[in-house]
Amino acid sequence: MKKLFTEINIKNLKIKNRVCIPPMVVPVAEDGYVTSSNVERYKELAKGGPGLIIQEATCINEDGKLAEKQIGIWSDDQVEGLRKIVDAVHEEGCPIFVQIHHAGVVGISEEPLCPSPYEFNGYGRKVVGREMTLEDIKSVQNDYIEAARRAYEAGYDGIELHGCHGYLICQFLNKRVNKRNDEYGKNPENFVIEILEGIRKVTPKEFIVGIRLGGFEPAIEDGIHYAKIFEQQGIDFLDVSYGFSNGQEINVGEDYKYSNAVYAAERIKKEVSVPVFAVDGINSGDMAEAILNETNVDLVDIARGALINPNWANDAREGKDTGKCLRCSKCAWFGLSKACPGRAIFSRNNA
Ligand SMILES: Cc1cc2nc3c(=O)[nH]c(=O)nc-3n(C[C@H](O)[C@H](O)[C@H](O)COP(=O)(O)O)c2cc1C
Ligand code: SF4
Repeated sequence: MKKLFTEINIKNLKIKNRVCIPPMVVPVAEDGYVTSSNVERYKELAKGGPGLIIQEATCINEDGKLAEKQIGIWSDDQVEGLRKIVDAVHEEGCPIFVQIHHAGVVGISEEPLCPSPYEFNGYGRKVVGREMTLEDIKSVQNDYIEAARRAYEAGYDGIELHGCHGYLICQFLNKRVNKRNDEYGKNPENFVIEILEGIRKVTPKEFIVGIRLGGFEPAIEDGIHYAKIFEQQGIDFLDVSYGFSNGQEINVGEDYKYSNAVYAAERIKKEVSVPVFAVDGINSGDMAEAILNETNVDLVDIARGALINPNWANDAREGKDTGKCLRCSKCAWFGLSKACPGRAIFSRNNA
């Protein structure tokens, strides 16, 4: 584990090892406010020894929610609760970013926004997004900027824009969804660049601003294109995952050893010099170490591994069993870890 447990800096922030726990929504907030269950969960994760935690998708306005019990960051009143998460994680010597999020057409709003009137059929409903006016665009951009300001005030070390997995930024960046004829259709990255510029105006320059970007948006060439643009615009890190779920063009050779998202991160890392994070299916310390060495990415994201075993990083460092995700999808992206068979098996084996 030579590389996995070496330090790295993102800007001025020292990160003690290369294990990042990426965002995972576990919907236990109340009306957008942090509850003690949220705080306890992050405390437990921080005790487990990761170098960095990125807090779950946290919504920038009520209309952009993906789940009723999602944490919100749309009001100054929410800062006090958010600060409790930050303090709990910092007490364990771990830095924390927050992923700021708007679901767009795939959210739970009655009349969801979208760059174009895209028909979304999923999560048990069929809905057509309302095409955003220029006023809508400015207003939502302002909500991202205000969310980042609150994140800074709450004490987070940085933010991650949720720019993948089909949510609003992804809907702008993906030409299969975004059919606009205006500047946000011709240069969809402007939607993000203007948010970045706004965030820089309301936060100090050491505040870290990164993005979780779809590697296939819809093809790897698009992911690389956006990664290079955002690096030029001063993004501090690129956390590479999947793009808009429908119609990704994933042409990865069958003999590639790791997940398609790791492939995308490897390709993007060849083109940029900012820190790049890789994700998906990294299920042991040995695999994490191999990915860092073979692909040159800078950090590895351990998501479901940390649902099963919150002590993942400490156990990997000590060469212990870290547990295995069965990929049964019972957590269905919402982390009902009590129903997680991987966690039950791990707890039994390590009782
Ligand atoms: C319960 C759950 C909730 C998730 N919520 C988010 C989220 O809020 N934001 C995000 O970008 N990805 C989210 N993801 C995706 C994970 O961050 C990660 O990309 C994915 O689980 C693959 O990594 P893994 O194989 O290590 O689990 C979620 C995943 C799970 C299992
Ligand atoms: S519920 Fe299933 S897919 Fe989710 S973390 Fe547990 S074992 Fe893995």
